[in-house]
Amino acid sequence: MKSRRDLMLEEMGLTPLWQLRGRAAAKEEAAAVPESRVTSHESRLTGADDRRAAIMGLAWAELKARVASCTDCPLHEKRNKAVFGVGDENADWLFVGEGPGAEEDAQGEPFVGQAGKLLDSMLAAINLKRGQNVYIANLIKCRPPGNRSPEPREALACEPYLHRQIELIRPRLIVALGKVAAVNLLARDASIASLRGQIHQFRGIPLIVTYHPAYLLRNLPDKAKGWVDLCFAVRVMSDLQKAPPPPSNIEIT
Ligand code: URA
Repeated sequence: MKSRRDLMLEEMGLTPLWQLRGRAAAKEEAAAVPESRVTSHESRLTGADDRRAAIMGLAWAELKARVASCTDCPLHEKRNKAVFGVGDENADWLFVGEGPGAEEDAQGEPFVGQAGKLLDSMLAAINLKRGQNVYIANLIKCRPPGNRSPEPREALACEPYLHRQIELIRPRLIVALGKVAAVNLLARDASIASLRGQIHQFRGIPLIVTYHPAYLLRNLPDKAKGWVDLCFAVRVMSDLQKAPPPPSNIEIT
């Protein structure tokens, strides 16, 4: 006989429960990562303000081209494809993950592996679909070796790309998937437990936090909490859609 939990997950459209096989996925609840080493690449980031200002002035096509050819941190050395992001460039919903895994690196699209299948099911459970009023992006655009979490300097180097994407999309709501995306967007360390269930702000745009799909694949009992977060997200979006659209001149500096 199916357990109450299994029935509930089935009802939510979150079954079958995909399992990660093979190598372990990057640790979702990673503790603070060590300070990065200073490498020769650091010198490329010394003009960080100028670089950021240049990126924040790019239109979509230029931004995509810049990310595709980026060599501003060591992660470019081993990537197959930079993973820019995918979806509706005028979406109300923006989902932000951590960074590409092996399959994303091979295909150049975010969330196409096992975690991506779960993300698609989570979207379907709230009547959303990749590409339809939904944009999916990652904090970092190149795959870290072994799917480790990005080091602070890697996240910092990639930050302007995500910020420019957010400025161009002007979503009504950002959903941060997992602690790494959340703490980087919110620029403060906190546990995922303390961040869930609240409306935060990313430079004036409402942001909520839920578990990363890869974490949910490894911690099945928390899928129910993930569902609670999705229901919260739907309620928040419904309120936001009653309000006037976000201003067209949002500037993320
Ligand atoms: N995990 C992420 O955070 N992003 C992806 O694109 C895939 C897995």
